[in-house]
Amino acid sequence: MSTLNEYLSTKESESLEELKEFLRIPSISADSKYKNDIRRAAEWLNNRLKDLGADTRIYETPGHPIVYGEYMISPDKPTVLFYGHYDVQPPDPLGLWETEPFDPVVRKTEIHPDGAIFARGSCDDKGQLYMQVKAVEALIHHDLLDCNLKFIYEGEEEIGSDHLDQFCMDHTDLLTNDVIMICDTSILSNDQPTITTGLRGLSYVEVKVTGPKVDLHSGVYGGAVANPINVLAQMIADMHDEDGRITIPGFYDDVDIVSSEEREAMNKAPFNLEKYKKDLGIKEVQGEKGYTSLERTSIRPALDVNGIWGGYTGEGAKTVLPSEAFAKISMRLVPNQNPDQITDLFVDYFKLKAPETVQVEVNPHHGGRPAVTPVDSVAYRAASKAMKKAFGKEPIPVRGGGSIPIVAMFKEVLKSDSILMGFGLDSDAIHSPNEHFGLFNFYIGIQTIAEFLIQYGKDARKI
Ligand code: BES
Ligand code: MN
Ligand code: MN
Repeated sequence: MSTLNEYLSTKESESLEELKEFLRIPSISADSKYKNDIRRAAEWLNNRLKDLGADTRIYETPGHPIVYGEYMISPDKPTVLFYGHYDVQPPDPLGLWETEPFDPVVRKTEIHPDGAIFARGSCDDKGQLYMQVKAVEALIHHDLLDCNLKFIYEGEEEIGSDHLDQFCMDHTDLLTNDVIMICDTSILSNDQPTITTGLRGLSYVEVKVTGPKVDLHSGVYGGAVANPINVLAQMIADMHDEDGRITIPGFYDDVDIVSSEEREAMNKAPFNLEKYKKDLGIKEVQGEKGYTSLERTSIRPALDVNGIWGGYTGEGAKTVLPSEAFAKISMRLVPNQNPDQITDLFVDYFKLKAPETVQVEVNPHHGGRPAVTPVDSVAYRAASKAMKKAFGKEPIPVRGGGSIPIVAMFKEVLKSDSILMGFGLDSDAIHSPNEHFGLFNFYIGIQTIAEFLIQYGKDARKI
């Protein structure tokens, strides 16, 4: 019989074709038009788990379904719970895609000379969750599986995991595990593997500023009546001071101060600022004074406008003083900030800062708590060994800037830690046009997850 790696390489094109099938289903959770496609994706995934020989079930929720599977070999063995999300972000703006978002194609790029698969969800997270399925398949085929497996794949991660929270609380026994494996983050580069050891939290609000009760002629009234867009722009501008700090009173009160040793260690990660700027097409970076770009996107919070609108945005010019202005604002949070408290601080501040000339409204959206994961666990060491074996290089721990709210929830409700072992690159354009996932990353991810399971099965038994 072939070795595991030989087997994996003979299976590469088959795995890729299966992933393409999965990527062709437009499982956009945010848009109710795609409800049926979300279900098709859940069923497709459920069938792949069935093919493994797992006991599977689709759980209905008031939102999108949860795919659950179990492959239990013995009550004496440790249990790994795999988590991932089969929903994807909307592909907009469609015009900027070089090929269709739901018609996956493989193309070579400078960073991915072996090719990358271009499609919405290729990296976030269909491609990455499918690596878990393929790793398990290879282990079962070689009779190398030495731990119990559970799988939970949700269809609402991109819209806040609203119903997975409740599901966890209602099914704590079903979900008991020794460690959770999540492949939904990135590595620093294909030469330098990393394991993510923290995620930022999120507070997300939508604001509305109302001025006059109807749109007005901007010549007849301009200069005398407050323009809600001008006011909103000013209020947003005032949310940062000249040192790049967020001005909301109390915003930083609970922020964990990271030790200078830890900061020094994290800044040893290879990071080339010039390349960073060049890749993003920017001349200069910005942010909170006293912190590096790596720190600004991991251990420090951030406030960003995600969308802003109002007035006339059609073709040509229309002279109007609009009645309303809107914005969507996200705040990325770090340990120990509490999203609900931060949202309250934002609401108070926004109302306080609003001039008499307008009325304001703030509507909070979903949020999520930040998380940090331990680096001194059996599972972390197994993950580290697996990466070393696959990449030939020891991974370094880094904190990530994105959010996966369920990680803090898993810790609280299931009392288990997660291993955040993703294989994407930050340049893979997740949530953007032309999202892609390197074939090298896809295949090495499968191999690393398989190695992790072998290693963890061995090491976890000894304790
Ligand atoms: N997989 C991402 C999070 C991520 C990306 C973590 C890159 C680390 C590196 C996840 O699907 C995501 O996009 N999460 C959302 C949060 C959610 C509440 C909408 C995010 O971070 O914006
Ligand atoms: Mn994701
Ligand atoms: Mn995402």
